[in-house]
Parts: sequence; C-alpha cells; structure tokens
Amino acid sequence: MEAKILTNEILEEDIEILSLRPKLLKEYIGQKKVKEMMDIFIRAAKNRNEALDHVLLYGPAGLGKTTLANIIANEIGVNIKVTSGPSIERSGDLAVILTSLEPGDILFIDEIHRLPRIVEEILYPAMEDFVIDIIVGRDTTSKSIRVDLPPFTLVGATTRFGDLSSPLRDRFGVVHKLEYYNTDELTQICKRTARIFECETHEDALFEIARRSRGTPRITNRLFRRVRDFADVLNDGIISIEICKLALGKLHIDEIGLDSKDYAYLLGIIEKFDGGPVGVESLAASIGEEPTTIEDVYEPYLLQIGFIKRTQRGRVATEKAYKHLNKTHNLRLF
Ligand code: ADE
Repeated sequence: MEAKILTNEILEEDIEILSLRPKLLKEYIGQKKVKEMMDIFIRAAKNRNEALDHVLLYGPAGLGKTTLANIIANEIGVNIKVTSGPSIERSGDLAVILTSLEPGDILFIDEIHRLPRIVEEILYPAMEDFVIDIIVGRDTTSKSIRVDLPPFTLVGATTRFGDLSSPLRDRFGVVHKLEYYNTDELTQICKRTARIFECETHEDALFEIARRSRGTPRITNRLFRRVRDFADVLNDGIISIEICKLALGKLHIDEIGLDSKDYAYLLGIIEKFDGGPVGVESLAASIGEEPTTIEDVYEPYLLQIGFIKRTQRGRVATEKAYKHLNKTHNLRLF
C-alpha cells in the first residue's frame, strides 16, 4: 500500500478510479436483480429507522462489490468503515473498529473469507446481538466484559463463497452473487467513463473496449484509460476504433479480452501438460504464478467462457480453447 503514494501518477489514477464509482443505485449499471432487491431492503430499513440487515456480496473480482457497499451507505445516509479480512489480525483490532461505529453505520469487510478464525468468532455475537465480549487483564485476574454495540450493518465481500464458514455465512440476512456483465452493460459503463473524463469517443470504439473487458467493469475502466493515453498522444484525444485496436493490440489484449497471462496459462495446459488434466499447483509453478492468483484472477473468466474445465483430476483445456489458440489436440495413442 505504501508504494502507492510514491508517485503522483499513481495517486492521480487512484483518484480517477474513485471519481468513476457511481454513488447511487440508479447510476449503477447492470446487476439488475441485486439492485432491485437492495432498493427494497434499503427503503424498508430507512422507513423503519432500523439498521439494514447484514449483506454478503460474492463473485469474481472487479464486478463492483466495494462500489455497491459504498452505494448502500450513501443511499441510507450513514458512514461506512472499510477494512479487509487479512488486515484484521487480532480480535482487538476488530473490537476497536466495532466500538467506533455509530448507529446504522456500515462496516465493510473485503475478502471476508480471510478473517482469522479467532477474529471471526468475535463477529458472531456482534452480528447477532450487537455485543462483543472483551477479555481484560491477564491469566488468573482476567475477566470478560460484555460491551454493547450500536446496531450496525456488516457488508462482507468475497471472491470465495465456498471458503466462508457456515456459521458466518448463516448470519447474513441478505446474500447476493454478482454476475459477469454483458457487453451492452460494459458499453454503457464505458460511455459513462468517457462522459466523466470528457473524452471524444466513437460508439464502435466503446463497444470494442467493452467486448474485450472480460465481463468486468474494473477492466473496462482500465482499458479505457490506456486507450485514452494512446488517443491523447497519437490521435488528438479522439478515441476512434482504429486507435482503440492499436492500443489494445500493443497491450496484447486479444479479440475476446485475453491477455498474455491467460495465454501463458492456456498454453501451459496445452503444451506442457498435453491439454490436462493438470493440478493447479503444477500449472502455477510452470507459469510462475501463485495458485491462489490463478484460482481467483485467471480461472473464473476462462471457466465462464468455457475454455477450461475443472475436473477431479485437475484443469483441462476445452476444444474451444484449442480453437481460439489455433492449436490441435495431440492424439494420445496409448
Ligand atoms: N463503474 C464501475 N462499475 C460500474 C457500474 N456497475 N455501473 C456504473 N459505473 C461503474
């Protein structure tokens, strides 16, 4: 995190990302069902002057879980405190956050599946009864003091629903899965970004960026900024289909949005492991990535578009992947 403040350029990009985030449900494009439901739950809680029930958002990275948490806080008109599973190491860290909340506030915990078990256990009574038990003193003189918390809403986000313990999962009253966006929705997001940045754009260029965004708004906005760089330097700032194709080509983003890492992954399975099945650890080692990065970043989209399959014996590249990469299956005779 510290490295982020080293250069102005990165800081500016971060500020830009924040300025792109929609602040209200009506500005949020896509995820229609989630929006409809959240609109009802938010209005009901507001009418009753109660804290919204705890909300769990899950799904692949970059689909807008953090954005949605901020929108929920904004729509209700309460503060949001943002933290993440791996950054809360001890129970005391969580106790400090919980006791600083005001009635109705949102506590957003990103990557909630990475909360240490001991910390997670503090959350159970906090979520259910708005109390925490704090141990004071040491050894024989230690005692537990019960502290009341204001009613609050926990919004948890995870890319790994299956890694949540069931006691934690069961304590969320509202559970939503975020889905990949379609090209039409991503085109609208791209159009919105162009409007905020006051860029001159051609419709077919926006569609092209959307089409290569792997169903993910975070990628749409990242590609948009890179294409805008090319347009600013080479095309008087005009984002045309030609400059778009040139930029995306230079970035090694192919027709359907796969980048060089995806190619390394797929070619790894096809060339080094004969199409699979291959275990994620061996595959990760062969392309120099962490298994968790592979599972959380590369595989979800490749699974979604049917380029790989997960079998009990490991990952397998499908015929669709072979075709896209212009590869033929090596016939195995024995
Ligand atoms: N920017 C990123 N995600 C968005 C979304 N879902 N709607 C509008 N703008 C966005």
